[in-house]
Amino acid sequence: MSLGCGRSRRSSLFLRGLFFMVAVFLGLGYLFPVLDSVKDLKFVASSLSFCNDPAASTVKRRPSVKGSPTKNFRDNLLNDTYYITGWASGGLTNAVMNFVRTLLRALPRVLTNVQANMIYLGKLTDRVPIVPPFAPAQHISSTAGIIPFGDIFDLPVLRKALEMDVLDWREVKDIASRDDSDPYSPDEIDELGCWTTIKESSRDPATGNNIIRHLGLDNSYTRLPPSVRLTTDMPAKDEPHVILPHLASVIFPVEPLIDAESTTVLTPAPRSGHVRPPDHQLSCFDSLYYASSGPKPFEWERSWSPVWRTVGRHLRFTAAMEEIASAYMARAFKLSTPTEKAPPFVAVHIRRGDFVGQCKSLPKTKTLEEDDCFPSLFAYEKHVEDTIEDLWLVHDIYVPNVIVMSDETSPSFWSKVRERGWFFVNHTEAATAERYGEWYLPLIDTVIQSHAVGFVGTKSSTFSLLGERRVQDWNGGIVREVSIRDSR
Ligand SMILES: *[C@@H]1O[C@H](CO)[C@@H](O)[C@H](O)[C@H]1NC(C)=O
Ligand SMILES: *[C@@H]1O[C@H](CO)[C@@H](O)[C@H](O)[C@H]1NC(C)=O
Repeated sequence: MSLGCGRSRRSSLFLRGLFFMVAVFLGLGYLFPVLDSVKDLKFVASSLSFCNDPAASTVKRRPSVKGSPTKNFRDNLLNDTYYITGWASGGLTNAVMNFVRTLLRALPRVLTNVQANMIYLGKLTDRVPIVPPFAPAQHISSTAGIIPFGDIFDLPVLRKALEMDVLDWREVKDIASRDDSDPYSPDEIDELGCWTTIKESSRDPATGNNIIRHLGLDNSYTRLPPSVRLTTDMPAKDEPHVILPHLASVIFPVEPLIDAESTTVLTPAPRSGHVRPPDHQLSCFDSLYYASSGPKPFEWERSWSPVWRTVGRHLRFTAAMEEIASAYMARAFKLSTPTEKAPPFVAVHIRRGDFVGQCKSLPKTKTLEEDDCFPSLFAYEKHVEDTIEDLWLVHDIYVPNVIVMSDETSPSFWSKVRERGWFFVNHTEAATAERYGEWYLPLIDTVIQSHAVGFVGTKSSTFSLLGERRVQDWNGGIVREVSIRDSR
């Protein structure tokens, strides 16, 4: 039972501090976050070849690039190494796009899914993943800005778990930083040939999105062969899902199943009109949203998801994200100082907003009052009580503290939450969007959730699902779900 892992992490802070000083002295500064146990020392020993550059910790040099970020990405790639990248907002339907607020809440987990798929495919093919930043989806003129993947997720921990290098795009190419007032006007445009996963009946790869503009790429796209598709009950030409191991066979660096040079480009690059076939050294995909290991579509939602098991569960948050979330927890639980550690708690995620569609099967009164459609707080309360009881009976720990996260905005909802003595983060009061940008609202909630020892989520919400996974896999916690359809 590892309920105390948060605590033990704190208590080893001094030890880590000591390691840090030693590590910096040895020029191993960037390995610091992985120094968690004696076992890690073996890793350090076995990867010394990664860190023989004394400047490693300051110039962001990674072992799988030549050096500091270059104007054109190709100048930084090693000639004996293969890479993979991709970008997407493929899973965001127009319906979602109507609601900027909803979109901003949804996008971090959509992108996390997509990027986890891409990293998994890199693992399958010995290709170093170059992960794009989080960027607002196309059509959204948003102040959310660009957030490098490595500012949210702890890349050193991921690299260690995967036993391979993982790069942020900013470590490869000299691109605008997240503070830049105009992150979409790159100095240099690179031409690249990519694969598109777009279904056979469509001719439009995801060409124009903000990530590509930000990275300064001009891509042609080539269709993947039909053999990579999942077979569902959909007509084959409309099937959006692709199978990751099949993609691996197409892009494997040695003797791939398809000769990319002999393919025909579907869409020329929008800027220069070039028609490059899919690049051999840097494989790229327009979208890996509809990708799975084979048995089912949307595997990310399954307990056995290979992508979650291989990549997702190793996407720990950076120390900077943890620090911000800690301060929010201290404030939510009304602790005396921002650095005081939050007590063990049960997190409740109540998804409403765009889930109104899920209520349609229920008899509806004229006004869509929350309790007509969505499960009332009593439904959640019942699961919270059961969770607290289980934590007590099974894990011998009494956890009376409950924190609620929801996209619900109605004041009456929140006063009911308050009446129950449950806690919540008020992002308006904390001025989260103003201080950190809009991405941080869902991100901070996500990090807070991941610290819970009990979790009550909303069925079929991916935000809930990922929260549950983290609570189970990271904290050995107990999770439950409320179903909107059945209101219980
Ligand atoms: C690869 O790069 C190394 C170091 O830059 C160089 O010595 C070598 O000749 C290159 N190999 C090829 C095949 O270009
Ligand atoms: C959150 O804070 C704002 C600003 O202080 C306040 O107007 C609002 O009522 C608060 N929301 C809740 C649910 O307490």
